[in-house]
Amino acid sequence: MVVGKAPRGVPVTGDGTSERLVSGSGSDDDETLRPRRLADYVGQEAIKDQLSIAIAAARARGEALDHVLLHGPPGLGKTTLSRIVAAELGVQIKTTSGPAIEHQGALASVLTQVGSRDVVFVDEIHRLNRLVEESLYPAMEDYVLDIVSGRGAMSSVLRLPLKRFTLIGATTRAALLTAPLRDRFGLQFRLEFYDIEAIERLLVRAARVLRVVIDGDGAAEIARRSRRTPRVALRLLRRVRDYAQVMADGAVSRSVAVDALDGLGIDREGLDDLDRQLLTLLLVRFKGGPAGLETLAATVGEESDTLQDVYEPYLIQQGYLQRTSRGRIATELAAQHLGLPFPHADGTPQPRLL
Ligand SMILES: Nc1ncnc2c1ncn2[C@@H]1O[C@H](COP(=O)(O)OP(=O)(O)O)[C@@H](O)[C@H]1O
Ligand SMILES: [Mg+2]
Repeated sequence: MVVGKAPRGVPVTGDGTSERLVSGSGSDDDETLRPRRLADYVGQEAIKDQLSIAIAAARARGEALDHVLLHGPPGLGKTTLSRIVAAELGVQIKTTSGPAIEHQGALASVLTQVGSRDVVFVDEIHRLNRLVEESLYPAMEDYVLDIVSGRGAMSSVLRLPLKRFTLIGATTRAALLTAPLRDRFGLQFRLEFYDIEAIERLLVRAARVLRVVIDGDGAAEIARRSRRTPRVALRLLRRVRDYAQVMADGAVSRSVAVDALDGLGIDREGLDDLDRQLLTLLLVRFKGGPAGLETLAATVGEESDTLQDVYEPYLIQQGYLQRTSRGRIATELAAQHLGLPFPHADGTPQPRLL
């Protein structure tokens, strides 16, 4: 046991079971690790290119940047990118979220406080209520907010002028946005899962900041099991660091990473116990599927939203799972990965082809 400095703060675990995978803020190390400028933001090259052009043009014209929509699975860097955009624009950022803006008054108090060209970041923008969303349309388009008071014939509208601002909306569920809201974002980007090499670079940089001794093979092993997601990679790095400190000489090599991650139940493709449980259930009990999301969620004991937002995107991306109109299907690749027979469409196990 190392005695000396006080612990740097208890990790924040937040509210849901999805914490164990990709949500939540981790620990205060997160702030030190968050890249502040576009140049330090690893990967997502196409998005960075387009954003830097739009930012340079807006700056040159002295105008607010067009509204930006960022969508994609949790942990891929939406919040980080929104802060970087504000920093690159040289403006202030005000952060809120869809569920936090409960009514028109709350929206007014956010929007009337923003300065000219500032950024307003609305996380989980798909969770805005309809009335708030509708007041957002003229705010985004004409920079005015119409506050309605009273009802029926006695009602009156007070029109508040706003500064020209940039709204950055982030969502894990772009499909839940209404078309009129989506159409008001001039810049729309879908964040993709990262290349393993990009995650390796991110890990090496983070290890330097955290003063973790890591070699290329150690970083590669963590990257490979990171679900190609920065937040997961950083979390695994912390766990492997702990393991290295207690069980080895403190340095992260491939074998230390393998032992630590195997011990956490994270396999070579980054799947955890719940992923394997889900795929096994589909392959064995449901004969490959299709099975409905709600049924699967109830059987594995997880919220269906969490399965859909947190677990499924990676499984689909890696080719283990498919979403069909009739439900979820496990693929032959999933059967191979788990060493299970792949069932025929008629439900009989099929010999594995290779
Ligand atoms: N492209 C990136 N380069 C470096 N670090 C990143 C990148 N994307 C995300 N991160 C790190 O991963 C963590 C999660 O990112 P975040 O922006 O909170 O994701 P999201 O908002 O999409 O859930 C942050 O701590 C951030 O430091
Ligand atoms: Mg976020």
